[in-house]
Amino acid sequence: MKLENVISLGVQPIEESNIDSPHIETVILLSHLLGKDKSYVYSHPSRELSDSVVKKFSSIIKKRAQHYPLAYIIGKKEFMSLDFIVNENVIIPRPETEILVEETLKLFPLQDASQHTIVDVGTGCGNIALSLAKYNKDIYVYATDISSKAINVAFENRKRLNMENTVSFINCNLWDYFNDKKWKGRIDALVSNPPYIRSSQLSDLASELGYEPKEALDGGYDGLYFYPLLIEGGKFLLRKGGYLIMEVGYDQAEAVKNLIQSKGNFEDIVIKKDYSGIDRIVIARRE
Ligand SMILES: C[S@@+](CC[C@H](N)C(=O)[O-])C[C@H]1O[C@@H](n2cnc3c(N)ncnc32)[C@H](O)[C@@H]1O
Repeated sequence: MKLENVISLGVQPIEESNIDSPHIETVILLSHLLGKDKSYVYSHPSRELSDSVVKKFSSIIKKRAQHYPLAYIIGKKEFMSLDFIVNENVIIPRPETEILVEETLKLFPLQDASQHTIVDVGTGCGNIALSLAKYNKDIYVYATDISSKAINVAFENRKRLNMENTVSFINCNLWDYFNDKKWKGRIDALVSNPPYIRSSQLSDLASELGYEPKEALDGGYDGLYFYPLLIEGGKFLLRKGGYLIMEVGYDQAEAVKNLIQSKGNFEDIVIKKDYSGIDRIVIARRE
């Protein structure tokens, strides 16, 4: 079958499943299957594809039409202009999380030329940790995750990005590894995009989220389970003037700000919006 006909074959089921940009997605899936880039697919409409390729393509399209995430099919997702390997053991990096990285980088400008140590709690595929260290050579990141499978994905990403010397990945609960007096007040920033979806809302979410690891999404009955624990981490680990930087759900910024205020020990609490104008990142400075 000609490549252009194969594309038409793919677009229809994806369109019928109400997935945005069905044509682009179909081209991405075909280029992934052929091991070529998108421009190759666009520029070879008459190439004949074998029956076995068409069969494989149909089964991929079927999976995608059932809302299995594109990033899991192609095995990667771009974040901060870097490609990250992803699979079902990690959440797929979201564009709004780039705000967390950008805001953190603003707080530690390159011109400072001093070394900074950052702890990233709940690192998943390592996207926040690796981006921070990639864009500021003076940042060293210790990143934790409770999931050993996620840590393995993060290791793979670190290797691909050749960043073994600037990021450490640790399989532990929250910041337990650092719960020792030798780390007290030694950290310049604690960053985290914790699970923050209310447990009761997990089943109502867009069907694609159903394929992502539940422990990466579930923030307890009110979605706020992790924030007091992260604030405790910030109190213990941050040096005076160090920053606690956390991503929050669309309606959680004020509640998280109040939690920080009620714990004391922090000042200059600010909320940053994401690209859709939603309050998304809460930043507080250790007194
Ligand atoms: C929302 S995902 C964030 C992943 C990644 N940092 C990102 O921003 O795309 C939350 C991550 O926290 C991890 N996690 C959940 N509970 C944890 C805990 N108690 N300690 C450490 N990590 C945890 C999950 O495994 C998951 O990788």
